[in-house]
Amino acid sequence: MGKELKFNNGKFKIMVLGDIHERLVIESREDELKQRDAHKLFEMGMKAFQPDLVVLLGDTCSEYQECENYTLLHKEALERILKPILKTGVPMCYCLGNHEHDLGHEKEIVEAYSMIENFIGVNDESAPGDFNCNILIKDSKGENDILNLWFIDSNNCAEDREISNYDWVHKDQIEWYEKKAQEIKDSHNGKTIPAILFQHIPVYEEYELFREAKPYEYFWSTPGYIKPYKDKRFIKKEGVEGYLGEGPCSPDINMGQFESWKKVGDIKAAFFGHDHLNDFTGVVDNIILGQNKTSGFHAYTDGCKAAIRMITIDENEPDKINTRIYHFKELGLTSESLGPIEKRINDRTSMNLHKLGYAGAVLAGAVGIGAIIKHFKR
Ligand SMILES: [Fe+2]
Ligand SMILES: [Fe+2]
Repeated sequence: MGKELKFNNGKFKIMVLGDIHERLVIESREDELKQRDAHKLFEMGMKAFQPDLVVLLGDTCSEYQECENYTLLHKEALERILKPILKTGVPMCYCLGNHEHDLGHEKEIVEAYSMIENFIGVNDESAPGDFNCNILIKDSKGENDILNLWFIDSNNCAEDREISNYDWVHKDQIEWYEKKAQEIKDSHNGKTIPAILFQHIPVYEEYELFREAKPYEYFWSTPGYIKPYKDKRFIKKEGVEGYLGEGPCSPDINMGQFESWKKVGDIKAAFFGHDHLNDFTGVVDNIILGQNKTSGFHAYTDGCKAAIRMITIDENEPDKINTRIYHFKELGLTSESLGPIEKRINDRTSMNLHKLGYAGAVLAGAVGIGAIIKHFKR
């Protein structure tokens, strides 16, 4: 706690993990294999990229069990789930996901994180919500703050599900962010420190990264998730990188969080979890919006897709954010928990192509057998 972060030889590297959804307690051989696969991914990420910070985007461990001390049980689960990272001593920070809120034990979960030495973010008591904070990063010499990181609590489901399925970052949280950003600016001689924001539920503006699909693009398109776009299908706009596997599950209405970032002007990039399939990255109004698909093996899937995201910032250009997704398979890892088809396939499009291929092979086989039978009947 309270550890100071700084650039290392001119760079600052962040490894980001999306919705791990690990078990509170390992109960079966399947649980064990899934955790083993996740550990392989974390271990490889730490070894290959040597991050200076690891960020969890929420929905990390979303189970509750009646017990004497849930804080302790949750802490033990986190220590088990994150073992390959914790043993390196690299600092970590996290966001709360809707599933952590779902349990109704946020206070205990926040306390569990605070008991683990690696976790450096401290909830700002002046902020509404259960876990909101910011962390300033110094240059390599440890002299000046040159980068700021925000961790924002995007809450749970909306109170009125007629208005929106998922909740939004509330007005009082936005006011807190604006006030805090002004304080940071004032304490740095009026200079705006470039910032990266991490949050579980994505902002409404992610839909600006897509265009409506044309009828012939149906096979490659994705249906919208939120109310205004439910009847539409989408394709990524040119320049948007990565995979769009599902309509982003942002709030159904726009409550102005993104507009507030534009007004303040500090946020250069924002990264979200919540959608387990999406890993796209694109730019809206000069702000990078990036999705992290799941980094675990329990969440819903359309193929062997567990991935990590790396973010690298150069000391000389702290407002330029470089980022890339690395998939489990791409890192040369082999799954022990996925089925024979899933473990070979990356996403739904390739899954569909494979199914089409199998259907073609079966059809060709049937035609062949029919021809042979016909031949012998003669
Ligand atoms: Fe979620
Ligand atoms: Fe999730």
